[in-house]
Amino acid sequence: MTRIVLTTASAELVERMHHATGGAFLALPEGPLPADPAHLFAQLDNAPAPDVVVIDSGSATEQALDLAARFDQQCPSIAVILVSDLGPEIGLSAMRAGVRDILHPAAEISDIRMVLDRASEVAQARGLAPALAGGAPGSAPVRTGRVISVVSPKGGVGKTTVSTNLAVGLALAAPHSTVLVDLDVQFGDVASALNLQPEHSLTDMVNGPASRDTMMLKTFLTLHETGLYVICGPPSPAGADTISGAQVSQLLEMLAWEFRYVVVDTAPGLSEHTLAAMDQTSDLVLLTSMDVPGVRGLRKELDTLTELDMFTDSRHVVLNFTDTRGGLSLADVEATIGTGVDLMLPRSKAVPGSVNQGIPLLQSGVRDPMTKQLRRLVDRFAPGPAATRRPRRGEGRHRGRRRVLR
Ligand SMILES: Nc1ncnc2c1ncn2[C@@H]1O[C@H](COP(=O)(O)OP(=O)(O)OP(=O)(O)O)[C@@H](O)[C@H]1O
Ligand SMILES: [Mg+2]
Repeated sequence: MTRIVLTTASAELVERMHHATGGAFLALPEGPLPADPAHLFAQLDNAPAPDVVVIDSGSATEQALDLAARFDQQCPSIAVILVSDLGPEIGLSAMRAGVRDILHPAAEISDIRMVLDRASEVAQARGLAPALAGGAPGSAPVRTGRVISVVSPKGGVGKTTVSTNLAVGLALAAPHSTVLVDLDVQFGDVASALNLQPEHSLTDMVNGPASRDTMMLKTFLTLHETGLYVICGPPSPAGADTISGAQVSQLLEMLAWEFRYVVVDTAPGLSEHTLAAMDQTSDLVLLTSMDVPGVRGLRKELDTLTELDMFTDSRHVVLNFTDTRGGLSLADVEATIGTGVDLMLPRSKAVPGSVNQGIPLLQSGVRDPMTKQLRRLVDRFAPGPAATRRPRRGEGRHRGRRRVLR
């Protein structure tokens, strides 16, 4: 059973924790936040060390983050959840302090339960990892995140549109859970699709200290206004030369330890970097346009992946620009590729506008058949009512915002 400790001055939060856990947690006596893990353990009355610590920051945000960082350094197998009402703005500092998840002080019982379940999974996996790494030879540490790669044989079929919307949708469904990686190392345009001006890019993540140190890696992430973390592509195509497949593989592995969802946007075809991503991929989103070259290309890609034995258990075939007026039916497509189509995305007038503005449809929440289908895609990975929720006020409904092309 997971051992959970809560520090809070809020009787209401204690009450909701009771409902969420059936009373299976320990609330520390009210008082100032302990300065470090040792002080917190001293208040446990000889109870065993917890797996999950929930720290309600109240108005002492800095102290709470300090305490979280100390847990991360001294007791990395304990998962820390921060209770804070500061929204996405605290996300990056919380992540740097090793915080696993953030709960709003008014979080509903179902949200509390979900975050605690997730934290206990992580705590268990972290606790297991050293034993596995040092114990059974050849056994890999247990990873906790899903790596979802969006691939297609041809260019311009909607990979970036789909990956940015999927990542935003997952980030809105479970705050601070998702990182999007732009693996289109030459001409990646995730930054543009999300209207971001990143300080750091993929190049910084795979070279130097960030490639070896998770804490450092986190400080290089770019935070999007929906709470999504992003690793943008190199600023110029020349940057691609400094990135190897092995580095990509290592990066994705590190991210899968830290995030529930790692969404990967790729360049067309099976480049060295895409193949390296496939090695870490748990869920493959195979995308094609509804035309003969696109569908034939997908058939070849499926055959190649089968030959390379690179198929994941979980794969999702997505047809974009669906339109039967071009003479191809769904049945034709399925017969050609030899497998079923999981999701159809209509050609939509809302997409070019959203790409040009840098605001994904799942962020703006614009009503459109494409938005509806993209929500369905998110639901395949994060089922439940949270996944389909529309953005809250302040989470990104922007109208008429100007953007500067860089
Ligand atoms: N369902 C859709 N309806 C209308 N336009 C779309 C749709 N999907 C994508 N587009 C448009 O098609 C263009 C290509 O999309 P996108 O950049 O997502 O493709 P891509 O596969 O990432 O391309 P590349 O291979 O060059 O990276 C964009 O201008 C986008 O706005
Ligand atoms: Mg693209």
